[in-house]
Amino acid sequence: MENKKLKRGQEIKLKISDLAFGGKGISKKDDLVFFVKDAIPNQEVIAKISKIKKKYAEAYSIETLKDSTDQVNPVCEHFKWCGGCTTQQLDYQKQLYYKQKQVSDILNKIGGEKNLDINTIIGCAHTFFYRNKMEYTFSGIPWYIGDESYNDVIVGLHVPKRFDKILNINKCHINHEVFNDILEISKEIAVKEKMIPYHVRKHTGFLRFLVIRIGIHTNEVMVNLVTAGYKPKIIKPLVDALVDRIPNIKSIVNTINNQKSNIASGTSKLLYGDEYINEKIGDYTFKISANSFFQTNSYQVKTLYDYIIKTADFKKSDIVYDLYCGTGTIGIYISSFVKKVYGIEIVKDAIKDAKFNAKKNNIKNISFYDSDIKDFFTNQNTKIDKPNTIIIDPPRPGLHPNVIKDIITLSPSKIIYVSCNPSTQARDVKIFLEEDYKICNIQPIDMFPHTPHIECIITLKK
Ligand SMILES: C[S@@+](CC[C@H](N)C(=O)[O-])C[C@H]1O[C@@H](n2cnc3c(N)ncnc32)[C@H](O)[C@@H]1O
Repeated sequence: MENKKLKRGQEIKLKISDLAFGGKGISKKDDLVFFVKDAIPNQEVIAKISKIKKKYAEAYSIETLKDSTDQVNPVCEHFKWCGGCTTQQLDYQKQLYYKQKQVSDILNKIGGEKNLDINTIIGCAHTFFYRNKMEYTFSGIPWYIGDESYNDVIVGLHVPKRFDKILNINKCHINHEVFNDILEISKEIAVKEKMIPYHVRKHTGFLRFLVIRIGIHTNEVMVNLVTAGYKPKIIKPLVDALVDRIPNIKSIVNTINNQKSNIASGTSKLLYGDEYINEKIGDYTFKISANSFFQTNSYQVKTLYDYIIKTADFKKSDIVYDLYCGTGTIGIYISSFVKKVYGIEIVKDAIKDAKFNAKKNNIKNISFYDSDIKDFFTNQNTKIDKPNTIIIDPPRPGLHPNVIKDIITLSPSKIIYVSCNPSTQARDVKIFLEEDYKICNIQPIDMFPHTPHIECIITLKK
């Protein structure tokens, strides 16, 4: 099929044969590949073409002509419009099958390796209500599905590819259940008190984000109200309602973002309770503040960290670097198996939490540094021990070239690369393979059921 014959907006009948990384169905016609949103393998659909490129076209399903045998009814009323759970209509075991296949395809293609031995993906026992953090947006610009009407302020999630339109969320099935109660209370009070949501185009208004966190194993809840300015009187009725109606609320924080950038960070003021909540992983307790990273699936994080211990095969003499250490969770969790751990992380609040966490858990063989890792090894004045193992857990863009160079210079005998983005992981691993390193273990782990995200641990040894 020639892409020149296709037109944007054209409707086309497609048979879906595979699932791409990112959650779109794949259909092949001659040498043209179609990536089809809202379609799963073995479905036959009518799809509308939205983008045409030289070798591929993008489309979205508008009608299912034939169901897939792996299809299930999505439980969420928002499934069709919310971009979060792209594969909720696919049986969970099949979701795992395709995630495993995607890791294999990506590593074989981008990583340049052939016939890699990849362990079977470890699934998640809790497939719903597993998220311990969710960031909702207050808005006065709703996404209309039909001719429904909305209040002047809604709370919800961004519609895919729209920075300005918000899908009003009634109930989310992947965040912790208490978040849905908080969502409801926030909407009710914001409307009753005529609070003004922030307007992302005009840059006017006040209420920006509602960020909710819970320590799943401690049952402690934090609410972070992100506003454009510090006016605690305006949000007091909402704070009072949350304290009154959510019994396990431990912390209410107000983060002030006066900037145009549409992000949920800034300076934070405490409005109620403590500045942080606690979460447990195994025998360890961790403090989490409003601006610190913490793995979003508390049920599966122990599996992830236990696997790091298993694949690292630590010795009591080991010196370990925990790069991109967040609140120090990996370093603290593995500390009893090794001689010394050094954790490095860019967010100052996270490093403060990490130091607090080490003390709280009585860990003495760990040191933390706040720094951008790409500058750390060139700027570091105090001498630190050379590592024999480096654990890396970077954000989605993967490793900066300077960091790869520094790791190669440090020449540890083991690198354990934990990633939530197999494509950047494959790109980076390829460079380590061009040095003396060999892959000795690949373990995908599902931390994010129903979403296209995949966690994967690759162990490299010299
Ligand atoms: C995927 S998280 C991993 C955190 C931690 N290992 C864990 O399991 O909770 C990535 C972390 O890298 C940090 N980070 C991002 N860019 C960084 C950089 N350039 N230098 C140092 N840390 C960075 C983020 O703040 C975040 O805490």
